[in-house]
Amino acid sequence: MIDELLSKSKKVFFDTYNRIPIEISHGEGVHLYDKNGVRYLDMFSGLGVNALGYSHPKIIEAVSNQISKYAHLSNNYLSEIQLEFAEKLLKYSNMEKVFLTNSGTETIEAAIKLIRLHHGPYKKIFSLTNSFHGRTYAAMTLTGKQKYKSGFEPLLPNIYQLQFNNIDELINSIDENTAAIFVEFIQGEGGINEVDKEFVESLLKLRSQYNFFIVSDCIQCGTGRTGQPYSHNYFNFIPDIIVTAKAIGGGLPLGAMMIKNQFNDIFSIGQHGTTFGGNPISCAAGKIVIEEVYENGLIEIVKENGNYFYEQLNIIKSKYSDSIKEVRGRGLMLGVELTFPGSSIIKKLREKNILSNCTNENVIRLLPPLIIQKNEIDFFLYSFEEILKVL
Ligand SMILES: Cc1ncc(COP(=O)(O)O)c(C=O)c1O
Repeated sequence: MIDELLSKSKKVFFDTYNRIPIEISHGEGVHLYDKNGVRYLDMFSGLGVNALGYSHPKIIEAVSNQISKYAHLSNNYLSEIQLEFAEKLLKYSNMEKVFLTNSGTETIEAAIKLIRLHHGPYKKIFSLTNSFHGRTYAAMTLTGKQKYKSGFEPLLPNIYQLQFNNIDELINSIDENTAAIFVEFIQGEGGINEVDKEFVESLLKLRSQYNFFIVSDCIQCGTGRTGQPYSHNYFNFIPDIIVTAKAIGGGLPLGAMMIKNQFNDIFSIGQHGTTFGGNPISCAAGKIVIEEVYENGLIEIVKENGNYFYEQLNIIKSKYSDSIKEVRGRGLMLGVELTFPGSSIIKKLREKNILSNCTNENVIRLLPPLIIQKNEIDFFLYSFEEILKVL
């Protein structure tokens, strides 16, 4: 059955995805079930999206309520649920104004347009090596990983990459001709890499000297995933722009670009827009995500379970140092760097009913739903160690 589905899909779809040979029937909590009733522990949450897992009753209720009123309104109309969501989002982001979108890459585009309008087209925009910012042209140009850009040149002008955590290069490159720098304070796709404290300190000194924007790309490392609302919160400063998406919509497409009020007159009416951005159903789900994460204590549980997970992974690392080079990350955004390509481990985990992901060739990327419990983490740890034992 799955073979038939795979071959039909090959005929119908562009060949852009490496499909996993499982036919999912439904999800519940942190588990996905296949058509044969086999239950899998999901350690990837649909690429860091399903923060509250699957079939969360409050999301189902909020979405059902909203769809019974209206599924969509053009952004020419006010929408109560959009406003309620936006107010809560800003409150927990320490920001004052938001532009709502449908996805991460679109949010990056909005930020680049805002930066170009404010700083002019000729100033430089920087990002860091190994970063990932999206697939549309500006976001792709910004993306540090070359494999996502090859073949698509010419890219956008005046966008450059700086070496991740290289303070000398940062100091030598940033000057009065700098418009902005985009940073994932914990890189996701790049292999769960954390920006150094000293790098951030230098960045902040340079910002006060040259007045460029620091854009925190928290599309993957936002919404409480790291045990803080956003990964830049670990460094105790306020970015000029925050971009977020993925988990914020609770499984529905939603993204947000947020700023402080001093930049609020950059876009004028009609200068930027979207048909679906801030869709009311997505906002209804997003409001539940914010309430659960920030108001009903989930973020504290993420911190606690994340610390536990990190410590236990390090215990495994100490026993299998031939196989594990490093354990990185915070909260429930963890990476286990292996000394060999990780795809075989992903396959073996799947045989043990665990769905996970490998990024940057050899980093097992763990992004479980934020609602994961200790016994489920233990199941992962036990299964992972069983695999390492017999390698
Ligand atoms: C840090 C970061 N920025 C941007 C994006 C692009 O988001 P989307 O795939 O929703 O366009 C991603 C997606 O993985 C991401 O991880």
